[in-house]
Amino acid sequence: MSLSRRAFVRSLGVGGAGALSSTWVVGRNHEALAWGPDPLEAARQASTQQDVIRISGNENARGPGKAALDALHNVISGKVGRYGRNVARDDLPKAIARRVGHGLTAENILTSTGSSFILAAGVRAYVSESKPLVNGSPSYGAPNRTARTIGASVREIPVDANLKLDLDGMAEAANGAGLVFLCNPNNPTATTHSLDNVSAFIRRVKSNSPDTAILVDEAYIEYATDTTVETAAAQALEYDDVFIARTFSKAYGMAGLRLGYAAGRPATLAKLNAAWGLGDLNILTATAAIASLNEPDHMVAEREENSRIREFTIDAFREMGYEASDSQTNFLFVNVRQPAAEFRDAAREQGVMVGRDFPPMEQTHARISLGTMEEMERAMEVFRKILET
Ligand SMILES: Cc1ncc(COP(=O)(O)O)c(C=O)c1O
Repeated sequence: MSLSRRAFVRSLGVGGAGALSSTWVVGRNHEALAWGPDPLEAARQASTQQDVIRISGNENARGPGKAALDALHNVISGKVGRYGRNVARDDLPKAIARRVGHGLTAENILTSTGSSFILAAGVRAYVSESKPLVNGSPSYGAPNRTARTIGASVREIPVDANLKLDLDGMAEAANGAGLVFLCNPNNPTATTHSLDNVSAFIRRVKSNSPDTAILVDEAYIEYATDTTVETAAAQALEYDDVFIARTFSKAYGMAGLRLGYAAGRPATLAKLNAAWGLGDLNILTATAAIASLNEPDHMVAEREENSRIREFTIDAFREMGYEASDSQTNFLFVNVRQPAAEFRDAAREQGVMVGRDFPPMEQTHARISLGTMEEMERAMEVFRKILET
């Protein structure tokens, strides 16, 4: 547990086994809970095996910055008896719009308890039995599952040889589709497209198939160090039914507090809001998020630390002769030249949990999230033993 996490747990007044379960809840994301190799076993392992390294869920090992932790502490001791609706409904959308910029105002922001709800709302608003979903493959799978739940089909377009989303293929598949899900950076391949490419893609889809909606998921964009990779917020303001999804679960380190949002035109957001419940925000989450947004230096430091750990891990794999895709995120997609399940089982036996299978690349590639530097140094020793035998 990091020092800051420990301080936070202490500030909540829990310890021992309680501290472990608080860490699980505060630091863990939706994906880890829903898709971990076996969340129950993972939890069991975490409570019995003290130094298990959990790099399976694209979580943030460092948690939120000091401003957010201080804000949480102040709210707990002073204001948690209040509903805090003005903080969540008024102050937070304003603070988000101000931080993202690109002409956004509070009316262009729709918050939710995690961006998963925005994705579900997007699919339910625009996809139907006669209007398929378009997604990359492999890419984030939650929208596919929602589409199938409502009886809609999914056009899955394979990534290219560099493991980047095939924007040409996706634009062609978009004709007559209900929604295109464009994950930029893409989970699990960690690759990106520049804003120029994304913006040309949006223009092309909107001119060939004007009724097709586009969701650009930017869950990991804060970690992108390639300066051509930027938010498509301005494009979301330019067109009806184009919107971005962002989350506080990744670089902001608040997965367990549950906060995401959509940005787009008010008419687009109204369709999302009508399509699916987006949850309610509590005063802790809203206050911590505002404090984080007002502490941009922490985001710079977080990005730098992630890059340092990312470079170390990519280099360590390369030294062993193994290649990762060009990661712009807090995880790597590595060609381990063996089924991901075998690699994962071998790693787990030695106390390191890595990502689940990502079809259709599960025979060769494993997704490895980035923990702290110390965790990655220890994890690399385990990977070296597995890959060099
Ligand atoms: C690409 C992508 N989008 C959305 C989410 C959902 O995140 P959350 O619901 O925690 O905001 C995740 C979680 O891992 C993700 O990887």
